[in-house]
Amino acid sequence: MNKNIAVIRGDGIGPEIVNQALLVLDKVADIYGHKFEYTDVDMGGCAIDKHGDPLPQSELEKCLASDSVLLGAVGGDKWNNVPGDKRPEKGLLRLRSGMGVYSNNRPAKIWKQLASASPLRDSIVAKGIDFIIVRELIGGIYFGEHKTEGDTATDILAYSEKEIERIGRIGFETARKRGKRLCSVEKSNVLDSSRLWKKVMHRLAEEYPDVELSDMLVDNCAMQIVKNPAQFDVIVTENMFGDILSDEASMITGSIGMIPSSSLGATSCGLYEPIHGSAPDIAGQDIANPIGTILSAAMMLRFSFDMEKEAQAIENAVSAVLDAGYRTADIMPQADDEAAGCTRVGCAEMGRQIIEKLA
Ligand code: IPM
Ligand code: MG
Repeated sequence: MNKNIAVIRGDGIGPEIVNQALLVLDKVADIYGHKFEYTDVDMGGCAIDKHGDPLPQSELEKCLASDSVLLGAVGGDKWNNVPGDKRPEKGLLRLRSGMGVYSNNRPAKIWKQLASASPLRDSIVAKGIDFIIVRELIGGIYFGEHKTEGDTATDILAYSEKEIERIGRIGFETARKRGKRLCSVEKSNVLDSSRLWKKVMHRLAEEYPDVELSDMLVDNCAMQIVKNPAQFDVIVTENMFGDILSDEASMITGSIGMIPSSSLGATSCGLYEPIHGSAPDIAGQDIANPIGTILSAAMMLRFSFDMEKEAQAIENAVSAVLDAGYRTADIMPQADDEAAGCTRVGCAEMGRQIIEKLA
């Protein structure tokens, strides 16, 4: 198959991790007889420097014309003082919204090879960590009105029933394909938007009798994720709660550097990105972990291109490399005894090892 992939390298470690993912994609194309063409797109701080805008319309158009978008990371201290609507992150928000990708899927799954990297007690990890956070991505407080007047700043959190229903359906459908348990997370003891959220979820539940729906307040959920993560199958939640909970969920799996994500809307053109940031402090040193981006590319093959066996091949290659003991700094065991048999590698070498296992 021929596919045109829009590639956003972005800022900080973005370029180095994306480069490794592209090399992996090239290898997949080679082995399975596909052709992937890449279109470079400027977004984030680098786009501010080049065009004075974190996502010029022409760059967004390239993404809309592509079969899917692969993104590294954007942002950095350098642009901390630019006005809110010109920040690098604003480019990302405009991209998500412009593509209409309302459903963000963030898996929290522990790799057995990295069990000791989890900060949780062994007895908790042993019960298993394997859940998905389905995060609403183009509504809520991120996209409500933002204003600062005098000494007061305001951000509006609004959701319509329609917006809640479409993400709710993704939550139910995702649970239906897995353990059939959906936990709807909100703050209905305080927020009107959450009370509406809860009402819509329960209405939808009638259409999905095979899925068991539960409700959880977001503060309790933050606690339950570290106390007993094995209880979760699929979590569905609004934009900001999902942002916060997905960072927490990633950490208990060992490293945020391992976690990919997919964002989809009404079409097969999706946005694929690791959930970590641009880590400017380690940029350009060849020590970043490219696995989150490489696994995001695998998700692209699976969800947007219907290439299941190719996606599986990438995931198997990552697993084989972990089995062989290769570790970037973020997943390198701290204790000497656990580090025995592990080899510390940089970003490019990690990519090379994965490609070797693919072949
Ligand atoms: C994420 C990031 C973004 C978000 C930032 C960079 C705007 O934290 O993808 O989780 O808040 O959505
Ligand atoms: Mg985040």
